[in-house]
Amino acid sequence: MATSTRIQTDVVLKVEDLRTYFRTRWGTVKAVDGISFDLRKGETLGIVGESGCGKSVTMLSLMRLIPIPPGRIVSGKIILDGEDIVQVSEKEMSKIRGSKIALIIQDPMTSLNPVFSIGDQVEEAIRIHQDIPKRQVMSRALDVLRKVNIPAAESRVKDYPHQMSGGMRQRVVGAIGISCEPQVLIADEPTTSLDVTIQAQYLKLLKDIQKDSDLSIIFITHDFGIVAKMCDRVAVMYAGRIVEHGSVRDIFNNPSHPYTEALLASVPKMDQVVERLFSIEGQPPPLHDLPVGCAFADRCPVVMDKCRMEYPTQATVSDGHTASCWRVGE
Ligand SMILES: Nc1ncnc2c1ncn2[C@@H]1O[C@H](COP(=O)(O)OP(=O)(O)OP(=O)(O)O)[C@@H](O)[C@H]1O
Ligand SMILES: [Mg+2]
Repeated sequence: MATSTRIQTDVVLKVEDLRTYFRTRWGTVKAVDGISFDLRKGETLGIVGESGCGKSVTMLSLMRLIPIPPGRIVSGKIILDGEDIVQVSEKEMSKIRGSKIALIIQDPMTSLNPVFSIGDQVEEAIRIHQDIPKRQVMSRALDVLRKVNIPAAESRVKDYPHQMSGGMRQRVVGAIGISCEPQVLIADEPTTSLDVTIQAQYLKLLKDIQKDSDLSIIFITHDFGIVAKMCDRVAVMYAGRIVEHGSVRDIFNNPSHPYTEALLASVPKMDQVVERLFSIEGQPPPLHDLPVGCAFADRCPVVMDKCRMEYPTQATVSDGHTASCWRVGE
């Protein structure tokens, strides 16, 4: 177990009370509403939650890619490598993006440009951030393509995205993501468009890259099964907030928020034959009209009167494990 001093110095990204809102004709959508977490060197943090809970808006906020308007980071800090990137100019941010914090998005087809060869696209990503001679750019591009296990990279650099399989395209997107050796890589549901075998290879690849480079990864997913395989810690999001946060072991062994319990109950188990998967009844409240109390109250099997009146304070379940539920510590 790391000592607390080591944890402090190892933090590469610190998010403090971040709020990102969208102005819409229905009112203010509080897509991210006061989230805080740390990311340490070399670790993988999973962010899980149902569709619409604010996972992608969190990721877009970290990249400073929120469309303004209608969106805006209304408050909070994102401290990356000692600097609050909420405050930096767009020009500075465009240098930070890719070189210190990079993103792999859901669909490898839409994140590659169909009219340029994959070699050109990896080289372009390197050129934007690094002022190095053309020959070096080319050899660096080959290096990263080899690193993500593209076979015969020297000849495949000339291929266009449509000439590659889905799995290979995803590797190219991964190569672009790590081409400038970022400290933080955000992977937003990168596995949804892949079949299971390729998905497994891809997850392994991310792990391998991480081992070699001490990269910190934020893994955004619906899937607790992937969290178990990939992550060290996990933040469970519900309606724009983190409702539970802890090590993967703590969350799996001792889920303490009823929402986390419900999510875990909906994960299929290898050794169980189930008639029907458990799913959580009801819908999250609209993010432009959140209740004053706990946003999960209407769906919670153990709701109390207090839960509808006041948002639960964050309670400590054990060292490094917190949950925002009035039941914790009762
Ligand atoms: N440009 C926008 N304008 C208005 N509301 C937006 C905008 N972008 C996102 N939102 C809202 O922010 C909320 C969070 O969306 P987000 O995309 O972060 O969800 P998510 O957790 O990534 O879901 P999924 O699992 O489906 O990807 C949603 O209610 C969404 O409608
Ligand atoms: Mg999303």
